[in-house]
Order: sequence, then structure tokens, then C-alpha cells
Amino acid sequence: MFKKDFPYFKNSEIAYLDNGATTQKPQCVIDAQVEYYEKYCANTHRSNFGDANKATTNYEGARKILKEFINASGNEEIIFTKGVSESINFIASSFVSKYETVIISSLEHHSNIVPWHMQGRTIGKGLEVVKCDENLSFDFDHFEKLLSQNKNAFVSVTHISNAFGKIHDIKEITRLAHKYGAVVMIDGAQSLAHMKVDVQDLDVDFFAISAHKTFGPTGVGAIYVKKEHLADLLPYQTGGATIHEVDYHGSTLLDSPYMFEAGTQNIAGVIGFAQALEYIKHVGYENIETIEKDVYTYLDKRLREIPDIEFYNDIEDSVGSRSFNIKGLIHDDVGILVDKMKIALRVGHHCAQPIMKQLGIKGTIRVSLAFYNNYTDIDKLILALKKAISMLKD
Ligand SMILES: Cc1ncc(COP(=O)(O)O)c(C=O)c1O
Repeated sequence: MFKKDFPYFKNSEIAYLDNGATTQKPQCVIDAQVEYYEKYCANTHRSNFGDANKATTNYEGARKILKEFINASGNEEIIFTKGVSESINFIASSFVSKYETVIISSLEHHSNIVPWHMQGRTIGKGLEVVKCDENLSFDFDHFEKLLSQNKNAFVSVTHISNAFGKIHDIKEITRLAHKYGAVVMIDGAQSLAHMKVDVQDLDVDFFAISAHKTFGPTGVGAIYVKKEHLADLLPYQTGGATIHEVDYHGSTLLDSPYMFEAGTQNIAGVIGFAQALEYIKHVGYENIETIEKDVYTYLDKRLREIPDIEFYNDIEDSVGSRSFNIKGLIHDDVGILVDKMKIALRVGHHCAQPIMKQLGIKGTIRVSLAFYNNYTDIDKLILALKKAISMLKD
């Protein structure tokens, strides 16, 4: 019923089931960006003429909208970035050096693994990984053991696994981490498309956000930084619009968030992202959660009709993504065939090679939903999968 808001679906018969990779954009998001380029294209925080002031007002308005959306306590806690990858890299290089150990989970995306390797942290040498059980659930006992053994720890975990849809209990992770004096960053790339996030209620220290996975434009994201950490956060890059005063002896920087947003930002993208958040408010998380639960359950039920299907987790505590393999078939082959039948999904390791290796597989077939998906999409998928299987098994 919401597909009508998304121009991508207007003339397309594609069952778009790759929302974990990126979501489609509603018309209002596209319009907001076009309007900026067509009607008031000017740089922000610099010039003082009408269109420049309007661009600055709307850009800063977007910050306020995001701040309220996630219930941050101040605008200075919201720093715009290119996306979750940049947000994590920013915090990794500008904050984490004083922490002896970084603790991640077994379900991390490469964006929350490689930045730690770039610092020379490897397993047992500044990097620890919380185990998961056979249902991919976070092992809280192991986590607590790691926290007690590593007094100066920085915890960086995903909220929702992009590969398997598994939801981590962030509130409990944060509660335990804080009990041991650790600081917590959440990779929220997959969160806002599916569920309400309240950073004060979760009590997280950092929360990384991706616009393009939240019905917004590509190349935009943000990092929420709890106020008490702002003074310890160093700029990741500097330049235009970050400074108060410069001479050849030195520079004084502005306060957050401006000191962290060097150079001309993705102004149209940020304005478009605000529209995506307004659109989510209009749809309502209650609706989103109800629809998704229903379609996700239907997806699971229909997939179970397929003989020899192998899952890696049940659908308890999961949302969005459902990953599987079909015994005897190569996931890439299935992906190529269903693409020809107008099914958009992802096959492969989903930028999560370590967990694939742990499961002894090269990758999976991943169906990832958003609230605009419906039973018709799932029926098309099942038909295509059955056809592909019969072609490959013949
Ligand atoms: C869990 C997770 N973390 C990080 C990323 C990277 O996000 P971005 O594309 O905003 O850099 C992704 C993208 O697939 C993801 O799913």
C-alpha cells in the first residue's frame, strides 16, 4: 500500500528485496533534493544572501529533525557524515586510541571490523569478539567475561545484523558495558528503517546512522555523540567551516558539530534525509513494525516450502533480513537465475565474511524487506526460487 509513494515502483515489476543494501526513496525525498538544486542552490554557513541563508536554515533544520527523531539531547550531538562507514571510521580514528580493547560481536559488517584492523588491532591484541550461539544470539556471559577481563574497553556492536536480521539487545549490552566502565558505539545502519531508536533510553555513547538505508539519499549519514564525550573527540578532518580563527601560528576551532563537518557537505542529501525521517513519522513505526512482522513471518513460512533449505537462525529477535542456502546449490547461481525473473536480492557474504567463515559457508541468499514489501513480492520470490531450483537441479 505504500509503494505508491516510491517512484521506483511505478513502472517496475521488480520484487525489490534488497533493502538491507539500500532502500528505495519516496517522492518527497527526491523532490526535496531537486528543489534545493533548482530553487536555492547555495553553500551553507558561509555567504549571507537569501538562498544561502535558506540552504543553511534547511540544513540545520535537518539536524534538528534528526536530533528529535532519535531523541538526542542537543543539536551538537548530531554530526553529519557520508554514512555509517565514515561514522565508525571517524570515531575509530578520533576517539578510541586511549581504549586498550575494542569489543565487537560475531555479526559485524566489515565496516565495524576493518577500521580496527587498520589500527593494528587483531584478535587478542586489542580486539575481542563476543561469541554467538547456534541461533546467532549474542552470548552475554562471554561479553561479561570480556568486560571483566578488559577494564578499559570500547564496545562497538551492530544493532541489527545486515546478513541475518538478528537484533542485538542494545539496552542490555549498554547497561552491562557501563557497569564495567566501558563506552558503547552502535552500528545503526539497519536500525531506523525498521524500528524506533531513542538514544537516551538506550543510553548509548555513539550511534552511527545511514540515510540510504533509511529511505534517504546515498552518501549521507550521521554519528550521534553523547554530549559528555564531545570534549574528548578530535576532528577527523579539518578545513573550511570548521574554524573560528586561523593565522600562521595556529587555528581555533568552532564548537561541535561544526568543528567536525569540514568542507562543503552533501547539502541536498542532508535535506533529503530530513524528508525521509518526516516520511517515516508520517507512516509511523507502529505501522512499519506491524507490516514487517506480518510479511517477514509470511516470508519465513513460504521459504520453508522449499525442500533442502538451510537457515542459520530462527526468526525470533530478527527483522528485515532472512538468509538461507539451498543444499547442493551455489547461491550465486540462484541469484543469477532469479534476477532474470525480476527478483532483486543479494547473494554472497554481505560484507560479513567472519561470520560466514564461522558457519563454514561462503555466503547466503539474502532476502531483505522494508515496510513497502507485501505478500505479492514474496509469492513472486517463491515462484522464482522454485523455478531456479528446478532448472539447477535438472
Ligand atoms: C550493518 C551495516 N553496517 C555498516 C554498513 C555500511 O553503511 P554505509 O553504506 O552507510 O556506509 C552497512 C551497509 O550495508 C551495514 O549493513
